[in-house]
Amino acid sequence: MVTDLLRPLTEEDLPLLTGDDVGFDYFGPRAPRLSVPAPDLNDQGGFAVVDVSGRLVGSVSWVWQRWGPNVQSRNPMIGIWLSAPARGRGLGTTAQRQLVDLFFRHTAVNRVEAHTDVENIAEQRALEKVGFTREGTTRGAQWRDGGYRDGHLYSILRNEWQTATA
Ligand SMILES: CC(C)(COP(=O)(O)OP(=O)(O)OC[C@H]1O[C@@H](n2cnc3c(N)ncnc32)[C@H](O)[C@@H]1OP(=O)(O)O)[C@@H](O)C(=O)NCCC(=O)NCCS
Repeated sequence: MVTDLLRPLTEEDLPLLTGDDVGFDYFGPRAPRLSVPAPDLNDQGGFAVVDVSGRLVGSVSWVWQRWGPNVQSRNPMIGIWLSAPARGRGLGTTAQRQLVDLFFRHTAVNRVEAHTDVENIAEQRALEKVGFTREGTTRGAQWRDGGYRDGHLYSILRNEWQTATA
């Protein structure tokens, strides 16, 4: 499961995952990670994002959503954080494109989702450049920093990914 930007986390990466500074993915103090999540696309987990010189500049992650009671109706929702110096260089777009590619190549999911704050223009643009479609606004869905926040829900379907990569 190695791509140009994504690789499994190691114990040495943990202190470098410093978290958010702009608020879009800050959900309050959390216990330090004590172990490295297994890089299993069929379970919860995460990958570190590294640049070409092998320096960790952020991470991608996912949780599983379910739109019906059967396993076929579940799909991953992806997330990303890049350190401030790494932003605005195309890495967020490329890393999320590579994560989407991993899911469609190595699992049978039909749909990959993403969700971001209505004010997070950089993430909205990155997702649209990957090929995600904005499906709607999730009103008051996310609790962050003392208030419920509106977000935009995005998805990309397997046939759209196949067309984009043909
Ligand atoms: C959101 C994030 C992943 C985007 O990745 P990135 O590498 O910075 O973005 P890219 O360089 O790939 O740029 C993607 C698009 O967004 C635009 N963009 C980048 N930063 C922007 C900003 N601050 N404001 C508006 N647009 C911005 C780029 O211009 C580009 O669009 P374009 O090609 O039409 O010009 C990254 O900035 C980040 O980690 N931010 C902090 C954490 C966060 O918000 N995570 C997501 C939580 S849902």
